[in-house]
Amino acid sequence: MRVLSGIQPTGAIHWGNYFGAIRQYIALQDNEQAFYFIANLHALNAVRDAAKLRQYTFDMAVDLLALGLDPNKATLFVQSDVPEISQLCWILLTGTPMGLLERCVAYKDKIAKGQSADAGLFTYPILQAADILAYDSDTVPVGADQVQHIEVCRDVAGSFNHQFGQTFVLPKAYVLEASARVPGIDGEKMSKSYNNTLAVFEDAKTQRKQIMRIVTDSRPMEEAKEPAGDVLYDLFSLVAPESDRESMAALYRRGGFGYGEVKKALADAAEKFWAEPRARRAELAANPKQIHEILAAGAAKARKKASEVLARAQRACGIAAS
Ligand code: TRP
Repeated sequence: MRVLSGIQPTGAIHWGNYFGAIRQYIALQDNEQAFYFIANLHALNAVRDAAKLRQYTFDMAVDLLALGLDPNKATLFVQSDVPEISQLCWILLTGTPMGLLERCVAYKDKIAKGQSADAGLFTYPILQAADILAYDSDTVPVGADQVQHIEVCRDVAGSFNHQFGQTFVLPKAYVLEASARVPGIDGEKMSKSYNNTLAVFEDAKTQRKQIMRIVTDSRPMEEAKEPAGDVLYDLFSLVAPESDRESMAALYRRGGFGYGEVKKALADAAEKFWAEPRARRAELAANPKQIHEILAAGAAKARKKASEVLARAQRACGIAAS
């Protein structure tokens, strides 16, 4: 079973990224053959600053390693270190009906949010299809918003197989669990585009200040309250140990406490929860050579597989000798 997913390097990761995706990717490395890559070719659609894109790409590698991605278990690499992807992307584009891409909602959403309507953004799902197909991936863990792109990948791969003979493995989406609500500091869903995030690799003191500024509802604090759905409680549940979670829930149901106390408990729990990855991150970042070595080894392994699959596709469609 090959599990594969890509993460765009577009800036500092936040709690929503961790609980919604990264934590689940890392959990899969124990039982599956996992390939994870940093999708810098995709990010180039949005990050139009060379120094920033380079920095975000490196930072993402450090972040993932600090959070527990183990390069001895999973293969970690940078998308552009596997040039076969871009070659395969072209082959796939030639068999992609415009209508298939026109139906993709992620593209429309991004345009609606002000991103420019570039051909790279429009054809983004096919680069993603190349990513997936190049490694004969079976399972692609993604958020619900990316499921449509996996369908596009299956469509394009299926029609290539139909025209040229069995070449690609058809992947399945594995929809990441979104059951844990990760609200932002304004109570809306935590998201970079709402500017309401708590960064994972934040200095503890700064994060405490951000937590103290979280908007709470105006109900009198004397009133008993259902914990689930409350911003502070939901964030607390993510980072506090089970037993503390239960006593906090009991406190909410009893009433007669202040939100200030809860914020303090949340800041304490957050500081403990992130302490180890934050310390590990500082160590890793101090040794960039080691990070580059890990990425180079990952790329070599990924390229080996991708060049096999690309050669198969080239032979099938007549680009290379059969
Ligand atoms: N499009 C994905 C996202 O924005 C990132 C991505 C690129 C990806 N290539 C992929 C995810 C291949 C899964 C498989 O989140």
